[in-house]
Amino acid sequence: MLADRALRIDGDGILPVSHHPSDDRDAAIHVSVLLSEAIEWLQPQPAQIVVDGTLGAGGHSRALAERIQPDGQVIALDRDPSAIRRASRDLAGLPIRFAQANFCDLAEVLELLQIDRVDAVLLDLGLSSDQLADADRGFSYSCDGPLDLRFDPDEGEPAWRLLAGLQEDRLANLIYEFGEERLSRRIARKIVERRTASPVRTATELADLVWSCYPASARRNRIHPATRTFQALRIAVNDELKSLEIALRRTPDLLKVGGRFAVISFHSLEDRRVKQAFRSDPRLRELTRKPLVAGEAELAANPRARSAKMRVAQRIDAPPDGAMAVGEPVARRPGKRR
Ligand SMILES: C[S@@+](CC[C@H](N)C(=O)[O-])C[C@H]1O[C@@H](n2cnc3c(N)ncnc32)[C@H](O)[C@@H]1O
Repeated sequence: MLADRALRIDGDGILPVSHHPSDDRDAAIHVSVLLSEAIEWLQPQPAQIVVDGTLGAGGHSRALAERIQPDGQVIALDRDPSAIRRASRDLAGLPIRFAQANFCDLAEVLELLQIDRVDAVLLDLGLSSDQLADADRGFSYSCDGPLDLRFDPDEGEPAWRLLAGLQEDRLANLIYEFGEERLSRRIARKIVERRTASPVRTATELADLVWSCYPASARRNRIHPATRTFQALRIAVNDELKSLEIALRRTPDLLKVGGRFAVISFHSLEDRRVKQAFRSDPRLRELTRKPLVAGEAELAANPRARSAKMRVAQRIDAPPDGAMAVGEPVARRPGKRR
C-alpha cells in the first residue's frame, strides 16, 4: 500500500524533504488540544522513542521532544508536506525525525529508520488551524479558494472533482455517512442540478449552496450548516476512516510492552472506531474508561477543543502461543504489504 503513497523522511539522506519558499511566510497558528493531558497519559521519559503521527504545527511533538531529550527521539509524521516543512523549521534543534507519511504506514517508516518498537504513539486526528486558514486549500467555507480538501496535495483527487463527477445517490450517501447530514439528499440534488451549468469549484460556492438548502431557522445556528458537508468531503478525499482503521489495527504491534497509544478524535465516526479497537484488541488494555475532554480553561482559550476526546490504551504482553486475534504483526515482516 505504501508504494502508491508519499513517504519522505528527513536526515541520514533517506529521502530529504524539500524546502518551499512559501513555508517561511507565516508562523504556525494551530493551538494543540489536550496538550497537558496527552503528556500526562503518554508519560514520555528521557531516552524514549515516541511517535507523533499527526505533526501539524508541532505543539505535541515539541512537548514530547522536551521530555525525551537529549537521548530520546520523536518520530513525527504528517501527510501534509507544508506541515512537515514548517514544523521542521520551527522545531529545529529538538531531537525529532520528520517524515511525510500517512500514520497508517508507521511500520514502514520505522523499518526505514531501523527502529523496532516505540514507547508511545499519539494521533491527533483531523485538520489543523493552519490548514483551515490556508485560502488555497478550501478547508474553510469562508475562503474563496479551490475546494481541494486534501491533506497531501499530491495524493488522490480534489473535492471539487468529486463533486463534478459523482452520481447523485453516491454523493448523497457520502454526505450522509461521513457528515451525518440529514439533508444529504437535498444537498446532493442541488449540487447535481447546478453542475451542468456551472460546477462547484470553490469552498464559498459549496458553502452558499448548502446554506440555501437549509430553512431560515437553522441558518441562525452557531455552527455553519455547511460544516457537516465539508467534513464528509474531507473524510472522503483523504480516506480518513480507512487510515484510522489501518492504524488502529497495526500500531499495537509497533509498541513495546507497556507502551502507550493515545488518540484524540473530533467526531463520533472516529471516536467510535477508537473505542471499539481499544476495547476489543487483545494486545491492548484501555486506560481511559471514559474519553478525556478539555477543561473549562482550555475550552475558553481554544474553541477547537470543544469536540476533542482522547482515549489511551497500553500495550500488554502478547497472548500465550502468540495468537493475535486482531491484525497481523506486519512490522515483523519486512516487505509484506497489506
Ligand atoms: C489536528 S492536526 C495535529 C496538530 C498537532 N498535534 C499540533 O499539536 O500542532 C492534524 C494533522 O494531522 C495530519 N493528518 C491527518 N490525517 C493524517 C494521516 N492519516 N497521517 C498523517 N497525518 C495526518 C493533518 O495533515 C494535520 O496536519
